[in-house]
Amino acid sequence: MLASSIGSPLPMIIQGGMGIGVSGWRLARAVSLRGQLGVVSATAIDSVFVRRLQDGDPGGDLRRAMDHFPLPGIAAAALRRYYREGGRPAGVPYRMLGMYHKGVGRAREQLTMLASFVEVWLAKEGHDGPVGVNLLTKIQLPNLAILYGAMLAGVDYVLMGAGIPREIPGVLDALAAHQPASIRLEIDGASPELDATVRLDPRDHWGGAPPALLTRPRFLAIIASNSLATMLVRKASGRVDGFVIEGPTAGGHNAPPRGALRLNGHGEPIYGERDMVDLAAVRELGLPFWLAGGTGSPAALRGALDAGATGIQVGTLFAFAEESGLAAEYKRSVLQHAAQGAMEGRRQRGARPDTRPSGSVLEPPPAD
Ligand SMILES: Cc1cc2nc3c(=O)[nH]c(=O)nc-3n(C[C@H](O)[C@H](O)[C@H](O)COP(=O)(O)O)c2cc1C
Repeated sequence: MLASSIGSPLPMIIQGGMGIGVSGWRLARAVSLRGQLGVVSATAIDSVFVRRLQDGDPGGDLRRAMDHFPLPGIAAAALRRYYREGGRPAGVPYRMLGMYHKGVGRAREQLTMLASFVEVWLAKEGHDGPVGVNLLTKIQLPNLAILYGAMLAGVDYVLMGAGIPREIPGVLDALAAHQPASIRLEIDGASPELDATVRLDPRDHWGGAPPALLTRPRFLAIIASNSLATMLVRKASGRVDGFVIEGPTAGGHNAPPRGALRLNGHGEPIYGERDMVDLAAVRELGLPFWLAGGTGSPAALRGALDAGATGIQVGTLFAFAEESGLAAEYKRSVLQHAAQGAMEGRRQRGARPDTRPSGSVLEPPPAD
């Protein structure tokens, strides 16, 4: 089921990126194999990757993907340092990666590229369906290395929200040509003398000339307001290819309500009319868009299509699929409770993930 648009076909269903490790390569691959868009989460993917190596990489998937990483030497170094045949003995803690910081060395950049390469490569293995990568804009520091690694694996879509991803389209253009890319760090109260730019120069990582140009993935911005969509179309550093419009009932991390914060009896933020995206304004931009937030049903898909959307993005339902990275006992328990009607979703302030499997992006959720 693919919606056609100008150019190549667009998916009607996007499986939303879910960090950390919830939408891993197994889930994204399963969705892409069925002709829709599977999306891996690459948030903290470097830490996830070194832990999986220390868990012994059962089945050898990571090592199979690592064999295809084009930069020389890095995969072997990562194996030497992190891989533990048979996994960690009980009680032995993981060997941790240090916090990513501005100006990390080349080795750390390369490990991060390798980790996102592996995740995307595995999601794409053995089929030619599209695969996307999801990142949080506000976790700025590792994003350039993650994007370049994902592009080396041929990622088809980049989906980013949780911030204003104005600079990302231009970053994708530069990285596709193996050219230097940069992002300005958003630092409250930074002095003007501070060099608040993170840079990545792909040419630093190749012994000789970089290989052929990479495919520039489509860029979908995840937004919760039509004014942000308009701003991105006008001011982004390159081409925005569409929008995922997340309503306040979407699982995961939501934009706060506009105006003064009001809470309901459960301490959940109350959203209202002002938080509803004006879809007519989005339609006027002429770009494809997908609706997210309680849209995982045939009726909601039909509603989205009627509203001019290309389709829907769904998270919570996929988080409980067999292929998702959530712990199996947790999935089982939630599904059992849901089948008995003994489940209530709550939106928790200051915590994530926050799943509330009800409502629609087209209407405000009940205030209580
Ligand atoms: C467990 C969980 C984790 C999520 N993590 C992310 C994330 O890392 N990045 C992101 O852009 N969206 C994230 N989301 C949002 C989903 O991609 C999707 O937009 C949302 O779940 C759609 O609403 P639904 O849950 O009602 O289907 C997450 C959602 C869930 C349920």
